[in-house]
Amino acid sequence: MSNWPKHDMSFLGGRRLRRTRQSAWSRDMVRETELLPRDLIWPLFVIEGQNERTEIKTMPGVERLSIDLMVEAAKQARDAGIPALAIFPNTPGELRSESAEEAYNPNNLMCRVLAAIKDAVPEIGLIADVALDEYSANGQDGLVRDGAILNDETVDAMVRSAIVQARAGADIIAPSDMMDGRVAAIRSALDDEGFDQVQIMSYSAKYASCFYGPFREAVGSGSRLQGDKRTYQMDYANSDEALREIEQDIAEGADSIMVKPGLPYLDVIRRAKDAFNVPIYAYQVSGEYAMIEFAGRAGAINRDAAVLESLWSFKRAGANGILTYYALEMARKLAK
Ligand code: PBG
Repeated sequence: MSNWPKHDMSFLGGRRLRRTRQSAWSRDMVRETELLPRDLIWPLFVIEGQNERTEIKTMPGVERLSIDLMVEAAKQARDAGIPALAIFPNTPGELRSESAEEAYNPNNLMCRVLAAIKDAVPEIGLIADVALDEYSANGQDGLVRDGAILNDETVDAMVRSAIVQARAGADIIAPSDMMDGRVAAIRSALDDEGFDQVQIMSYSAKYASCFYGPFREAVGSGSRLQGDKRTYQMDYANSDEALREIEQDIAEGADSIMVKPGLPYLDVIRRAKDAFNVPIYAYQVSGEYAMIEFAGRAGAINRDAAVLESLWSFKRAGANGILTYYALEMARKLAK
């Protein structure tokens, strides 16, 4: 052993990259990014009823909550240091229609939960999803005629939806549909209605992804969905196009932009961060959550470690914040 190894290490020139990794204090000193409670945005699913919670089979550990329980969840989030909630409604089947007009009923489930939380927990930010799939009979994000998704008619319906949400108390309107021109249309309507301080967080680079499967079960659109969303959501083969989408949304007035899904698209987050000087959010979507949960339950990976590592990767990629179903659990853990 004594005269082994024999390799000449002089090519290192004195540099040894392991040197700074030798102790916890030193690893702390050279750590490049942070993960904090304020980086985490919590997506929540609302249902009708009182003291009602229902499980989502494909998202173990996540439940749909009635409005009263949503208010309690909002208090917990605030106390854990979470800055904002992203809210999605599970609209009862009888209120869904081809025209999705429930989307702009000022008394719809979404508006009622926004108002209830704004009233009880005014310190937390409310991000309202605007898209028609949560209200339509066919699960598409746009109005459909002869099998085609109508862009401009859909934008009109979304503008009306955004206005009732802003009136109900939404602080940030988050269009998740990928129609052309929706950011500009929503911005000008908000301004006309006196909501010039309501922000727009645009789902700018949203890909047609299989990873939304569990979400569609959660909001009840999955079993209704006919066809796919590839005429509006992006092709996963592209990322130059994502930069064009983001550039367009910024020009139309978006305050912040989102890349979605998260983990399979870290390259897009990094390209967006390098190219644009706006806040960028990543969405760790339902299928990503399901992969970690089910793999953890099967004993294939250490679940807690996987959650932390996956969330940190978004910060490393350049995201300013992350929409994640782990937000409450992780905000509490990170505060310790
Ligand atoms: C709907 C919407 C979807 C998600 C957020 N908003 C699904 C879709 O576009 O089909 C997915 C979120 C998730 O999977 O966690 N416009």
